[in-house]
Amino acid sequence: MSEKIKQTQSMLAKHHGDGGEFARLMEASYASRFNDQFWQMWEREILPYLPAAPVVVDLGTGPATFIKHLVAKYPGIKAFGVECAPYMLQAVGELPANAEVIEADLQDPHLPFVDNSVDAAIASVVVHEMHQPIRMFREILRVLKPAARFYIYDWIRAPLQNYLQIMGGNPFDETLPLESLEDLFIHFIEHNRFSLDDLVFMLKNTGFRIIDSAIQNQGQHAWLLVEKPR
Ligand SMILES: C[S@@+](CC[C@H](N)C(=O)[O-])C[C@H]1O[C@@H](n2cnc3c(N)ncnc32)[C@H](O)[C@@H]1O
Repeated sequence: MSEKIKQTQSMLAKHHGDGGEFARLMEASYASRFNDQFWQMWEREILPYLPAAPVVVDLGTGPATFIKHLVAKYPGIKAFGVECAPYMLQAVGELPANAEVIEADLQDPHLPFVDNSVDAAIASVVVHEMHQPIRMFREILRVLKPAARFYIYDWIRAPLQNYLQIMGGNPFDETLPLESLEDLFIHFIEHNRFSLDDLVFMLKNTGFRIIDSAIQNQGQHAWLLVEKPR
């Protein structure tokens, strides 16, 4: 195992806290990210552009809930998840025959796909966990086929007051244990890593064409749909 993946795993373990608990939280909150709005976007913007027997890659797949759901909905798809946190890999459990999870660090990616071979990719709440996502964007650009689409959904920078409204917690409460106060600010900083403009800037300069994007949830999250140029 490379030093780089160990560094990423240790950074993620700190961010996620209790890994098993976090994997369960990702499963429990799955439907809030992959909601009707997501599936409408999928059916309008991605599905019509897929060939027969497409390959779809889910970056930072966590317990692989999306790829399991995707292949159950569309049995013709071959879905791959990419993940490196040991507790997430453990939470994946049994996979259907047309779904597979690859253990790899997206910050130092050497994905086992040849150039121009993947039909669509997604990254749901992953980019904010990366110190530098440009290597991942470059790798996705390499493996996607020309005109293939990439959907990103993530936390974006937002004012502390809005963040607290969604996440709860009162940093002005003098009875709050020091550990909770520190945890609140560490997570605020980690969830506030990139703005939507930063994401657009990085994706454009990596070589993607921006198709659409929108800010959601009182400015806390954004989604983007981008395309590899034809
Ligand atoms: C917040 S979870 C989201 C899981 C899933 N995408 C979802 O929306 O349910 C982010 C996931 O990305 C993974 N991740 C973050 N950085 C990664 C990296 N550099 N390489 C591989 N996986 C990574 C984390 O371990 C975690 O499982």
